[in-house]
Amino acid sequence: MLRLKSASASNTLIPGRRVLALGASLAGLDEGVLRGAAIEMGSIAHLEVPSASAFDLILIDADAWEPPSLAAAVKALSALQPPPPVLMVGANLPAGLVRNLMRLEAADILEAPYSPEQLASTIQTLLVNAGPRPIDAAGAGGSRCWAVAGAVGGSGATTVAIEIANCLATQSKKSRSVCLVDLNLADGAAAAYLGAAPTTRLADFGNAADRIDAAMLQAFVTPVSKGLDLMAGVRDPNAFDTVGRDAILRMLEVACEVYDWVILDMPRHRRVWTLEVLAGCDEVLVISELTVPALLAARAQSDEIEEGLSGGLRPRIVLNRLASRMFGPAPSVTEAEKALQRKAEAGISSDWEAAAASVNLGGPIAQHRPKSKIVKDIQQLVERLAVQPPRRATAPKAA
Ligand SMILES: Nc1ncnc2c1ncn2[C@@H]1O[C@H](COP(=O)(O)OP(=O)(O)OP(=O)(O)O)[C@@H](O)[C@H]1O
Ligand SMILES: [Mg+2]
Repeated sequence: MLRLKSASASNTLIPGRRVLALGASLAGLDEGVLRGAAIEMGSIAHLEVPSASAFDLILIDADAWEPPSLAAAVKALSALQPPPPVLMVGANLPAGLVRNLMRLEAADILEAPYSPEQLASTIQTLLVNAGPRPIDAAGAGGSRCWAVAGAVGGSGATTVAIEIANCLATQSKKSRSVCLVDLNLADGAAAAYLGAAPTTRLADFGNAADRIDAAMLQAFVTPVSKGLDLMAGVRDPNAFDTVGRDAILRMLEVACEVYDWVILDMPRHRRVWTLEVLAGCDEVLVISELTVPALLAARAQSDEIEEGLSGGLRPRIVLNRLASRMFGPAPSVTEAEKALQRKAEAGISSDWEAAAASVNLGGPIAQHRPKSKIVKDIQQLVERLAVQPPRRATAPKAA
């Protein structure tokens, strides 16, 4: 029996992955090499299409199964477009079986006996070569709506909302799958950051909520890229007074019917519709910086949202602009979590050059500075959140 539990997985590709493991020798990996992954122990029957497509990685102990039936099951996997990466381990790896395995797009073998470190590095290489997993909201149970709110002004809510929306749009590979909605009705910055012309005069929706349907919504969005549309209003100091609650809720309701993903850039101050909008979201991200006032505000805002929703939806706090080297008395992430009295969901690196370049050129950071650490951090956050089951308390609905 392998001592897999002792291996530590020091990589960030694993958390949140769904892994199918076939063979008793592979039990216990979630406490070692695959810490943070959601592992299902299964049998050859689980390799059947389409259930196998639900996994991000398949591990098979070839010694645990009859070679002919295993070879047939592996062959059937190639019908998936694309099949998940497969790693086969074992002391007995017949040529016919290996041949079928190698016909898959991403597959590898590891001969037993092997060390936990060898197993970890082979899995990592497979996952890297397989690239980011396609994110499919429909597969995750219909449209998904995530709200992004800043704990204090300038904490990076608009930047994070844009990068999340762009990341989802790129990975979902479908056209017009994501809509970024700027709910800073009076002076939202999303359109300017993206170099897009805002077309909506949300005030034109006025209070005529019942007239809003999919066709009308399309007239109000600006295409940003193949997968991403933006709904943002032109600057209008009175917009918060002229756009009614029903119109906002109806507009979001329709957006959730039309798009796989709806990402909301929330106004920082609470409006009459804020809690109802958040209740319709699967995730609420509160963006904070690593300063004491911002952390205290993030904690207060998260508590207020939690109390206001009373539906079990817990905002997740994201620490933005984390510097790799801190000068001066900035709190560490551990100190930040103490101040927050909860764990931070994620950290986003600081990269002023990339952030400034992208807003000046107009477009996501991922487009103008794809190598920025911000892009990698956002991708990890998105992948982790996308595999969470939808948490929506109530669908966004106009009364
Ligand atoms: N991770 C980051 N690294 C460096 N600069 C960043 C980062 N995130 C945001 N910025 C920059 O910080 C500034 C504020 O960001 P942003 O406008 O996204 O914040 P906000 O919370 O939406 O602000 P507001 O309260 O005005 O809505 C911008 O200049 C943006 O480019
Ligand atoms: Mg903003």
